[in-house]
Amino acid sequence: MSHSAHRRTAAATALALAGLLTAAVPATAAPGGPPASAPGSPASAATSPAALAAPDIPLANVKAHLSELQSIAGANGGNRAHGRPGYKASIDYVKAKLDAAGFTTTVQQFTSSGATGYNLIADWPGGDPNQVLMAGAHLDSVSSGPGMNDNGSGSAGVLETALAVSRAQLQPAKHLRFAWWGAEELGLVGSRYYVNNLPSAERSKISGYLNFDMIGSPNPGYFVYDDDPAIEQTFKDFYAGLGVPTEIETEGDGRSDHASFKNVGIAVGGLFTGASRTKSSAQAQKWGGTAGQAFDRCYHSSCDTTSNINDTALDRNSDAIAHAVWTLSAGSTVPPGEVYETTGDVAIPDNGAAVTSSVTVSGRTGNAPATLKVGVDIKHTWRGDLVVDLLAPDGTAYRLKNSSGSDSADNVITTYTVNASAEAANGTWKLRVQDVAAQDTGYIDSWRLTF
Ligand code: TRP
Ligand code: ZN
Ligand code: CA
Repeated sequence: MSHSAHRRTAAATALALAGLLTAAVPATAAPGGPPASAPGSPASAATSPAALAAPDIPLANVKAHLSELQSIAGANGGNRAHGRPGYKASIDYVKAKLDAAGFTTTVQQFTSSGATGYNLIADWPGGDPNQVLMAGAHLDSVSSGPGMNDNGSGSAGVLETALAVSRAQLQPAKHLRFAWWGAEELGLVGSRYYVNNLPSAERSKISGYLNFDMIGSPNPGYFVYDDDPAIEQTFKDFYAGLGVPTEIETEGDGRSDHASFKNVGIAVGGLFTGASRTKSSAQAQKWGGTAGQAFDRCYHSSCDTTSNINDTALDRNSDAIAHAVWTLSAGSTVPPGEVYETTGDVAIPDNGAAVTSSVTVSGRTGNAPATLKVGVDIKHTWRGDLVVDLLAPDGTAYRLKNSSGSDSADNVITTYTVNASAEAANGTWKLRVQDVAAQDTGYIDSWRLTF
């Protein structure tokens, strides 16, 4: 119980399931940031401390989890399927490991086909509760076999990565949440239940979901899901570092639990080593193995045992999970407080058409903040003439100021706060200004966005 300090109360556990952990938000960098510079460019080069390198995940540990799951199947009629005792025993095994390592675990029950199903959610205490990185795997097998590749492999790889987070006592910028889904084989039932029961405010805090289903196929391919570009690139970078070529996963997009997340607009990615599809000779040339044979000849069969695992594939993919969890939880590479400014003057025609001035934002990840600061410096001889909007990269307008016949003061020099959390950060933002009454005139002197 050396990690008992990380335990939470039962009430906190209930909150954790809903994604309502109330860990303190880490202090952000000092506001103001670097000095403003050229039109439309970030005011300084992005700098941040290098993310800690992920550890090597010991293959022996991953295989030890698989052996335990195999034994559980053996003791429970040969499978770990939804509604069967081997499934609940699998949940108990994984949960005990996580509890001992200091995770806040929650078992979520649901009913499917008249049987009780279980999802296991494990929160690693700390990190930004508004930026949650999730990694998961389905823990159920089909009823015809023990399900070692499908999906003891992903379940064991995610479990050992979570245990490595604990061993490292990792303190990531983002909040980490691991999940083991029930009843995937009945049609993604458990993961859909989890997503559907998450309030929309909690869904929007999930910055990404990483899925691992079949990552140790005996005649393996190395497939990366073609979904969120940043997640996909993280996996490709890992494999490029190994010098192992990858291909895009095409054996059925939407056939695993990431689809439940993707369906509600959450960024997803994952890895896969192939199911019943046949390995081509070109694939055998680059990856080894046997051309003309299925990636997994025991897919959904009784022979999907611990003998149905390619150790190299399981080893590489377990390390890839850790690499992605470490890299993607480290937070934005662009520090908060970054200022993007445009200083070029734009004349505002008297009682005329709207004019715009652009600021280009690049190199950030995810959405703009809920407290986006819009600093405006408009010189004008009667500011009541002016209607001012912020336009997001997709064109969505946020009204900053309406016109007013009675506001005769000069200039609009102020900072507005906009909830821009529904907008992608990167892209061209515009300040739109229209002068709607005759006589007085002016110009946009400068304006800036502070993220
Ligand atoms: N468990 C999945 C299934 O039975 C396995 C699978 C098939 C898969 N194709 C996939 C997993 C593509 C991820 C991606 O359907
Ligand atoms: Zn399956
Ligand atoms: Ca005017």
